[in-house]
Amino acid sequence: MNDQLDAYWMPFTANRQFKQAPRLISRAEGMHFWTPEGRKVLDGVAGLWCVNAGHARPKIVEAIRAQAAEMDFAPPFNMGHPKQFELAERLVKLTPPGLSKVFYTNSGSESVDTALKIALAYHRVRGEGQRTRLIGRERGYHGVNFGGISVGGMVANRKMFGAMLAGVDHIRHTHDTRNLFTRGQPEHGADLADDLERLVALHDASTIAAVIVEPVAGSTGVLIPPKGYLERLRAICDKHGILLIFDEVITGFGRLGSPFAATHFGVTPDLMTVAKGLTNGCVPMGAVFASQKIHDAFMTGPEHLIEFFHGYTYSGHPLACAAALGTLDTYADEGLLTRGAKMAATFENVVHSLRDHPNVIDVRNIGLVGGIELKPIDGQPGKRAFSVFLDCWEKGVLIRTTGDTIALSPPLIIENQHIDQIIGTISDALKRAA
Ligand SMILES: Cc1ncc(COP(=O)(O)O)c(C=O)c1O
Repeated sequence: MNDQLDAYWMPFTANRQFKQAPRLISRAEGMHFWTPEGRKVLDGVAGLWCVNAGHARPKIVEAIRAQAAEMDFAPPFNMGHPKQFELAERLVKLTPPGLSKVFYTNSGSESVDTALKIALAYHRVRGEGQRTRLIGRERGYHGVNFGGISVGGMVANRKMFGAMLAGVDHIRHTHDTRNLFTRGQPEHGADLADDLERLVALHDASTIAAVIVEPVAGSTGVLIPPKGYLERLRAICDKHGILLIFDEVITGFGRLGSPFAATHFGVTPDLMTVAKGLTNGCVPMGAVFASQKIHDAFMTGPEHLIEFFHGYTYSGHPLACAAALGTLDTYADEGLLTRGAKMAATFENVVHSLRDHPNVIDVRNIGLVGGIELKPIDGQPGKRAFSVFLDCWEKGVLIRTTGDTIALSPPLIIENQHIDQIIGTISDALKRAA
């Protein structure tokens, strides 16, 4: 093992395997990464669902550079700096009507835990403090902090970490084999939202604070919400006074061809978490959008008292705010928050061209998200997809796999020839792996 690789304990990585044959990248621009040796690799996953405008965009780079020189840090408690307010004003012009308040965090995981805490505290400040139960969904991914793994539903992310938060329950996931090879939203499964009624019958609505779901589930392997499902979930939440949280960490900022999944599906949650595309992945930053009603419920006590005992040293960090403003400028200049809608039909056709390839058992897509599910090798789940990942990397395309699903989420600046290269490379790798 190379000694220089020894000290770093890598996240969500098979460390020993990686260090035997490291995959290093050291430069990025536009749709591409380069290895230290100068090999060019096409980015099929926007880094990690975050570099929506492509890499090294001049307005973002310059905004970060200028901010670092002007003011490196500003204390976020009891003090503010102008860009925090400017950014919030600009962000709430993009969100669905009603989501008019912004709370800053530094990651998707922190956004999720912040949203869960807002939900619990909201009920308490309005005198319904017995609403302490949080509901997630099987196969959900909400980051890796204790709140997120408690409401999350991916077993490997949960099983090592004890009892987690008390009083959490889960509704069923939305994967339904009647929907295999559906293009866009599947027909079957709106009724899976009724599973929330089952939990209401079990626990009573008066004990439930909030339900959190990814509008499109990414990390579990790309699950698209069945037609009518999110609408039904919204209606059931309204009926029972339960808050609905959309985790838009991957769907936010144009991934589906609309600014947010909430916009795309026409369903507005009470709280919405974002990160990743907020700063184009350049500086860590997340945020929670809250409805006016939720925010105002906190603004009732004496004015000299802190209303919400929560926040991070780096909430609204100057470099992150500058990066986010540069990112919003870039999105606006190039129409990127809706560009996915223009590319979606081509992307869909090309992704579905893989349907008859060896070991492909499902293809799913929406906007600029694609999922290609492979038949697992007996007794070795995840290995087939990972071998395709390695093959594509060798051939100059970065993809991502989760379990045995290939998950694609390219930068929104993608052109037709890039789509052809990504899918052509996967096609060859699938044939070789057969
Ligand atoms: C839906 C969702 N929520 C939360 C997270 C966690 O974000 P982070 O890794 O920035 O903590 C992710 C990350 O992929 C995600 O996909």
